[in-house]
Amino acid sequence: MPSVRVLITEEQIRERLRELAAQITRDYDGQPVTLLGVLTGSLMLVADLVRQLPLRTRIGFIQASSYRGATTRPDKLEIVPTLLPDVRDRHVLLVDDILDTGQTLNQVLDHIRSLRPRSVRVAVLLRKRGRQELPCEPDYIGFEIPDVFVVGYGLDYDDEYRQLPYVGVLEP
Ligand code: IMP
Ligand code: MG
Repeated sequence: MPSVRVLITEEQIRERLRELAAQITRDYDGQPVTLLGVLTGSLMLVADLVRQLPLRTRIGFIQASSYRGATTRPDKLEIVPTLLPDVRDRHVLLVDDILDTGQTLNQVLDHIRSLRPRSVRVAVLLRKRGRQELPCEPDYIGFEIPDVFVVGYGLDYDDEYRQLPYVGVLEP
């Protein structure tokens, strides 16, 4: 079993989410918001974020997967639209675990925009430095990280390690 070297501690995540939640609360200024998590990696972030938002909220999920395992070459994205709540005319906050190449978020954003929401903003826990191939500027970013493969707090390697309360790097 490989070990995991901690990169971002549980406490750092908690601290940062407090700041992001305060910023989101100010920005939406009392308007209802639909948090739309990209499955499965956004699970922890959606749960921890929404509990700190004193706003009217709805929660939905969108399933989209670009690749599996530790390869970082994005394939064609598959979206399962049946999971999606009605977002027409609603303020949507799209939530994902990590912005890597930007393929996933760009394609998911295209899909959501086609459903005519009132607005769309993007929140990610992590952004990898030097990896973005497509222009995508999230409105809320938890942490910038170097180009390493990370797991924990929702992020997986082959669908494992998601439950770790911190973000870490797999060591062989
Ligand atoms: P993108 O489409 O290249 O931006 O990749 C985004 C998706 O790839 C994320 O939602 C993750 O599921 C996955 N991903 C990218 N980098 C990592 C990583 O370091 N660890 C785990 N999953 C990752
Ligand atoms: Mg993901």
